[in-house]
Amino acid sequence: MPSVPYDGFAEIYDAWVATVPAAEDMRSFYVELMAAAEEPIVELGVGNGRICIEVARRGRAVIGVDSSTAILELCRGRARSAGVEDRLRLVEADFRDFTLDAPAALITLPFHSMGHLTTKADRRLFMRRVHEQLRPGGRFAWDQFVYDPDYPVASGSTVLRADLRDSDSGRGRLIWECPRRDEKRQLIDILVRVEDLDEMGRVEAARYIRMKTSWSDPEESRELLAECGFEIEALYGDFHRGAFDAGSSHAVWLARRPG
Ligand SMILES: C[S@@+](CC[C@H](N)C(=O)[O-])C[C@H]1O[C@@H](n2cnc3c(N)ncnc32)[C@H](O)[C@@H]1O
Repeated sequence: MPSVPYDGFAEIYDAWVATVPAAEDMRSFYVELMAAAEEPIVELGVGNGRICIEVARRGRAVIGVDSSTAILELCRGRARSAGVEDRLRLVEADFRDFTLDAPAALITLPFHSMGHLTTKADRRLFMRRVHEQLRPGGRFAWDQFVYDPDYPVASGSTVLRADLRDSDSGRGRLIWECPRRDEKRQLIDILVRVEDLDEMGRVEAARYIRMKTSWSDPEESRELLAECGFEIEALYGDFHRGAFDAGSSHAVWLARRPG
């Protein structure tokens, strides 16, 4: 098992994201916000760079922070192919403990990434850090999914997440996911099995990837943002800036360091 869980995710990252219904709307939301911001602009947890590369394509410089070497390699390669490598500064660091050369005008944490901070204490430390690294008047944008106890995939059951096939070679890849939810601790243990198939459909190689994530209540987020010194500018219920209400699947936050 890789020491940073996301290292194992690098090879399936694109396929994984493609199966998340909100992924495209989320991407547009952050790209618009970042492309309109003053620099320095920071994305925490850059993943394959699907957001920061598009922002760089629009002429903005972005600092991307991620703790996974393999993920940063993936992002760097994609930035190179897009011809925007010189506008991205990729930093290998834990986002609970990052330090910028100059205070940021905008810091983003897209795609449920707060879930990787699995305790309230950790989330508080992280938000303090973000607040410290922003300039007065600087903004912090992030999102969380709202936990749905009726989510159709039962805890402990396995679902087929992706069935990929190369039409030329006939070879394929299956990605299976088994999420186990701990309602009391608000944790999700995700076990992923990746199977590479030969042209006859036989499993040639298989491996497991483990990932831990968590959910928290929007009320806790409101409390932590205030406690860490943020003013809440907006809370949206989706990535089209619709109002947040009891039926929202996401809480999308825009907060500001006063000043
Ligand atoms: C859900 S992905 C989001 C990627 C990207 N923002 C997107 O929208 O596609 C979370 C990313 O955060 C990174 N990550 C998780 N925990 C981290 C930590 N403590 N410090 C820095 N990066 C972290 C992972 O390596 C991964 O690339």
